[in-house]
Amino acid sequence: MKASYLSPAVGQYIMAHATPADDLLDELAAETREVTGAHAGMQITPDQGRFLTMITQLVRPALAVEVGTFTGYSSLCIARGLSGGRLRCFDVSEEWTSIAKRYWEKAGVSSRITLTIGPAADALRALDEEIDLAFIDADKAQYPTYYELVMDRLRHGGLIMVDNTLWSGYVADPSYEDATTRGIREFNDLVKNDPRVTSVILPMADGLTMIRKN
Ligand SMILES: C[S@@+](CC[C@H](N)C(=O)[O-])C[C@H]1O[C@@H](n2cnc3c(N)ncnc32)[C@H](O)[C@@H]1O
Repeated sequence: MKASYLSPAVGQYIMAHATPADDLLDELAAETREVTGAHAGMQITPDQGRFLTMITQLVRPALAVEVGTFTGYSSLCIARGLSGGRLRCFDVSEEWTSIAKRYWEKAGVSSRITLTIGPAADALRALDEEIDLAFIDADKAQYPTYYELVMDRLRHGGLIMVDNTLWSGYVADPSYEDATTRGIREFNDLVKNDPRVTSVILPMADGLTMIRKN
C-alpha cells in the first residue's frame, strides 16, 4: 500500500473497493516485480490506474503526454481511455520501456503511443503541439521544470496530473528535511501559488495532484 499516511485498514479498504485491475495489468505488475525488483515500487497503484483511465475518458485528449513511463502501467491505463487521441511517452530507460512496449502490443494500444527515449525536459522543449492532458511521474527534482514546460504547451481547460506529491506524508511532517521532501514541498507551493491554475492534492496512493489550466 502506497498511501502510508492512511491507516493500513483504510488503505486496504480503498484498494478492495476500487474496480480491480484486469489480468493484463496484473501480469504487467507481476513481471515488473520479477524483473525490476525494488524498482517496482515506482509503478502506480491499481486504483490510480483506474482513475487515469477515467480521467482520460472524461478529458478526451487529442494529445496526452506522460513524463516517466517505466514498464508501462500508467501509459497503458491512459492509452485505454483514449478515444481517437494519441499518447506521447517520455523516459530515459530503453530497458524498462521495452517491457512497456510489449504490453502496449498485447493490449492493442501501441498504434496510439509514441515513445521518446532521452531526458524528458529536452523532449518537451522540442514538442510543438498543444497538450490536453499530462501525467508527470519522473525524477522528482525536475518536477518544476516539467510543470513549466507542460504548462507552456497545455491548452486552457487542460489537465496535469502529478504523482507522489504527498511523498509518504513527509511533506506535512517538519521532521523530514531531506532534499526530495523539500523539493516536493516547494513544488506543491509553486502550484498552489500559480494564478494560472486551479489545483487539488488527492490523497490517493502517494498523493496525486490534479491541476487545471484556467
Ligand atoms: C516513477 S517511475 C514511472 C512509473 C510509471 N508512471 C508507471 O506507472 O509504471 C519514473 C520513471 O522516470 C524515468 N526518468 C527518470 N529521470 C528521467 C528523465 N530525466 N527524463 C525522462 N524520464 C526519466 C525513469 O526511467 C522511470 O522509468
